Amino acid sequence: EKGGHRHWMAKEIAEQPAVLDTALAHYIHDGAIRLPEGDVDFSDVTRIVMVACGTAFYACLTAKYWIERLAGVPVEVDVASEFRYREPPITDGTLAIFVSQSGETADTLAALRYCEGRARIVSVVNVETSSIARASDVALPILAGREIGVASTKAFTCQLAVLGVLALKAAQDRGTLSAAEIRSHLEDLTRVPALIAQALNLEDDLSDIARDLSEARDILFIGRGPMYPLALEGALKLKEISYIHAEGYASGELKHGPIALVDDSVPVIVFAPSDDLFGKTVSNMQEVMARGGRVVLVSDAQGLKAQPGSWHSAQMPHAPDLWGPLLYAIPAQLLAYHTAVAKGTDVDQPRNLAKSVTVE
Ligand code: F6R
Repeated sequence: EKGGHRHWMAKEIAEQPAVLDTALAHYIHDGAIRLPEGDVDFSDVTRIVMVACGTAFYACLTAKYWIERLAGVPVEVDVASEFRYREPPITDGTLAIFVSQSGETADTLAALRYCEGRARIVSVVNVETSSIARASDVALPILAGREIGVASTKAFTCQLAVLGVLALKAAQDRGTLSAAEIRSHLEDLTRVPALIAQALNLEDDLSDIARDLSEARDILFIGRGPMYPLALEGALKLKEISYIHAEGYASGELKHGPIALVDDSVPVIVFAPSDDLFGKTVSNMQEVMARGGRVVLVSDAQGLKAQPGSWHSAQMPHAPDLWGPLLYAIPAQLLAYHTAVAKGTDVDQPRNLAKSVTVE
């Protein structure tokens, strides 16, 4: 039933090229955006609020980078348990987006209820019959298929794919990108599943690295720009299933405190595709290395060539501009998974966690 995999999580990680193909085929037709579940129009939107919990929250944080850059609309992202009690003002022209795999998360549903009658409500869900889907003006399915492992994997990348399409729709509606630019970003997005299939071939290398990680007591993850939310997600995934203390930081924040933690017992995972932020992230990485920190550099051929000398490295395929977070989710997941396997924890049913958090 697990298709020859040892755990549901491993099966769900491996399924990602296929489910992403399905999700993208649903939203992209003949190279153009198609939102079949009722239109989402960004023309008159003045502000977007995105609300979710956990991994879905990190998908929202990633989407903020895309939407603000591509469409120029301000995006606020909040965890649902904070949003619902803060009672934030919802100004005219606000579009509210709720992201939830289960569609049943109590805090996210309560945050949605708060927005009812105040904003147009779009949800991005895996379970199409869920409470959150039913309470939304438009519910966009991520089509990941049933996710059984408690630690979310394929739902995360499918959320990113749908949010990526939404960001491009926002740019299209607002005329901030040309038709040719949109087409080219969509083409890049449809190439991601094949790149993910290539990244999955790094599994043996990543499992060797994970064996070393499994000895650590604390692990840091750093990234910049859209790789920052991925650093948060990498740390969450690792702590959930391996029970190793892990934190994600924006690379530039290290020197504002967290670097005090670094010594030769602390592995630091660096997500740094060779993009225009690469040089900045690398200089933060060098500060870590100067303090004896053990760097695991996850980058592409160009990046690794420019920055040899890390403790470990993983050579990723080159990520298309914008869509790096989808691709780099794979090493984040595989490092967490193999670290947990090396520690012998219950990967699919980690202690104290439930798949669907229907109580606050
Ligand atoms: C992490 C994880 C959780 C969920 C969170 C929200 O691997 O699975 O952090 O992402 O509980 O759940 P949904 O998406 O169902 O609202």
